[in-house]
Amino acid sequence: MAKTSRGAARPPEARTAGQSSGAPDRKSSHGETAKTADLAADTVGPGEAMTGNQGVKIADDQNSLKGGPRGPTLMEDFVLREKITHFDHERIPERVVHARGAAAHGVFQVYEDLSDLTMAGLLTDPSRRTPVFVRFSTVAGSRGSTDLARDVRGFAVKFFTEEGIWDLVGNNMPVFFIQDAIKFPDLVHAVKPEPNNEIPQAASAHDTFWDFVSLTPESAHMLMWVMSDRGIPRSLAMMEGFGVHTFRLVNARGKARFVKFHWKPMKGVKSLVWDEATKISGKDPDFHRRDLFESIERGDYPEWELGLQIVEEHDEFKFDFDLLDPTKIIPEELVPVRRVGKMTLNRNPDNFFAETEQVAFHTGHVVPGIDFTNDPLLQGRLFSYLDTQLRRVGPNFAELPINRPLHPVHNNQRDAMARTIINKGRVAYFPNRLAAGCPMHSPETADAFKSYAEKMDGAKIRARSPSFADHFSQATQFWNSMADWEQEHIAAAFAFELNQVESEEVRHHVMNELLVNIADALAKQVSDQTGIAVARIGTPRYPTPSAPTPSGPLKQEARNLRSPALSMDKPGDTIKGRRIAILGGDGVDARQLKAIVDRLTAEGAVGELVAAHAGTVPDSAGKPQKVNRAAPNAPSVIYDAVIVPGGASAAALAMDGLAIHFLNEAYRHGKPVAVFGDGSSVLAATAIGDAGAEDGVIVGAISEIGGFIDALKRHRFPRRKVGAVPA
Ligand code: HEM
Repeated sequence: MAKTSRGAARPPEARTAGQSSGAPDRKSSHGETAKTADLAADTVGPGEAMTGNQGVKIADDQNSLKGGPRGPTLMEDFVLREKITHFDHERIPERVVHARGAAAHGVFQVYEDLSDLTMAGLLTDPSRRTPVFVRFSTVAGSRGSTDLARDVRGFAVKFFTEEGIWDLVGNNMPVFFIQDAIKFPDLVHAVKPEPNNEIPQAASAHDTFWDFVSLTPESAHMLMWVMSDRGIPRSLAMMEGFGVHTFRLVNARGKARFVKFHWKPMKGVKSLVWDEATKISGKDPDFHRRDLFESIERGDYPEWELGLQIVEEHDEFKFDFDLLDPTKIIPEELVPVRRVGKMTLNRNPDNFFAETEQVAFHTGHVVPGIDFTNDPLLQGRLFSYLDTQLRRVGPNFAELPINRPLHPVHNNQRDAMARTIINKGRVAYFPNRLAAGCPMHSPETADAFKSYAEKMDGAKIRARSPSFADHFSQATQFWNSMADWEQEHIAAAFAFELNQVESEEVRHHVMNELLVNIADALAKQVSDQTGIAVARIGTPRYPTPSAPTPSGPLKQEARNLRSPALSMDKPGDTIKGRRIAILGGDGVDARQLKAIVDRLTAEGAVGELVAAHAGTVPDSAGKPQKVNRAAPNAPSVIYDAVIVPGGASAAALAMDGLAIHFLNEAYRHGKPVAVFGDGSSVLAATAIGDAGAEDGVIVGAISEIGGFIDALKRHRFPRRKVGAVPA
């Protein structure tokens, strides 16, 4: 029996067993570890003796075969040819969008039986622990681009359920730029690097993107989300997820309801600030990927609750917007989000390529109990994902270990490139007698997928529904729902992007076709920061060339719409997963250092000692303390907060430009700062001045550490006056 990297024996049935029905069989097993066991069957360790791909032991793969020591390399050298040709073919096409991503394994469990809503087993059986594989991504950048781009984040979840695979392929924002999938190639061509010079990478701040959206008013609401701090998350574990479209849940009696899917992070929704994000892009472009990997390695497992917004079919038309329009949310104040289960990510992939790169999501992968609606964006996606997987991974993508269901697969699909299944028997068609009709249909069983019998009636028409025409009310609602500092960040983000746009015409149209229709205050703030004149403030609105103009009262209502749930300005209750720099050096106060590290660890945060050099520094008791990061390699932007303990180290830090810059920059980015004991001398050397606890600056004895933890729970102090503080 072959040994896997985990030392587990490879089950022979995983690769070879078959049935007279013509389909091979893998033993079906379920439960939390079922997918891990399934993958183990194809997981190998380094082994002992090196072999070629035909299993022959290799004596030397470091010297090619030559005619004499300085002679020509011989064509006969199969060791060289195999090694080089395999290398030459290592790359597969990167995803056309969402190319940059990171993933993890985990488990989902529902809190209570939801069989009144759906027959999907993972949502009806609270004892089931369904394995999941989740891939997070940015949209616009290439595989090697920064994690910190201002962008939407993909949030794709593959559930390995007992009834087959369900993919919930969502984003960290609940709406989208366009209402119809037929525009997707235009959107993506506009946001990707410009085709003549491939500039800029992983950024929407360029002419073609703003040209396109200025002519696409349906993008207004999504632009508000992307320009908000949601576009630069602090951590993948600190962002929400959304299925975006309205889907259907169908119960065993065939009753359907509309549903919006939400993921609510247990660590709260937290973001970076833009200056910080751009700096991290240089200092640690793998910031999110690293944070996800390291937190799982240390046992700090990212968790989300699954939320459902349920709408009865008879309420379909009771909203001011169309449930099928993917540029609209259902405000949580209108339909509360019911939290129904929890997902925990608890295992890193063994191999990035085999798992994270080859995983193939598809909105069309659904299980009985979950169904689609006529959202025209969703309908296009149902075509696009299968099509793109065929190109990117190949026609047998579903056979790959990371993609295959826990179920055995039996059907009459055959052959194609890189087929691994060996189908026995001579029957590959239906109907048949020669294989006793197998594999056969399951018309009567509940676990067979049957499409929801939605009534349909309509003329064939290539047009947009008038009910999709209001493009601005919810953009205004988003603006109205933000705290003052969130509005400032949004205006600054629009200004940054538009200041990168060269075409005066495009700049003018973004202002005067989009921003003025969202909020006067937004238009004014952006105008002040860009110099773009506001031509039409106070004049008729909603210039939507491709859609009818909504009737007058909508504008009035939009001005007053608010959904407090949209704001990130909320108190936090945990510091789990945050990283705190402890600036120290020779003579750092031993007692304080221990108290700080112990408290942070107890709260689930990570404290790192930063000193002038790596290795160790002696503390005030002469004991060597391990330095986690040398100061030049430890910029403030990769930390959530900073503490300066007392001790002899403080005097040296007060003279150290790097330390002073660290504190100024952290302060400017709104981060909690604490100085204990003589640490206050370092604060005195900064431009922070006499800011106090109400501003997240804690000065005092080590007993004040509780105040620092409370400040950290708030994450940031975005209302600080930072004008003169350099960074
Ligand atoms: C609500 C709107 C959308 C959401 C939430 C969304 C989400 C996602 C996510 C999360 C991924 C990355 C999957 C992964 O991690 O491997 C992805 C990839 C992709 N999306 Fe979308 N998307 C949306 C709209 C669309 C539309 C309208 C199309 C096409 C008509 C489309 C086509 C694609 C393609 C081709 C990929 C690459 C898939 C691959 O190569 O694996 N998406 N999308």
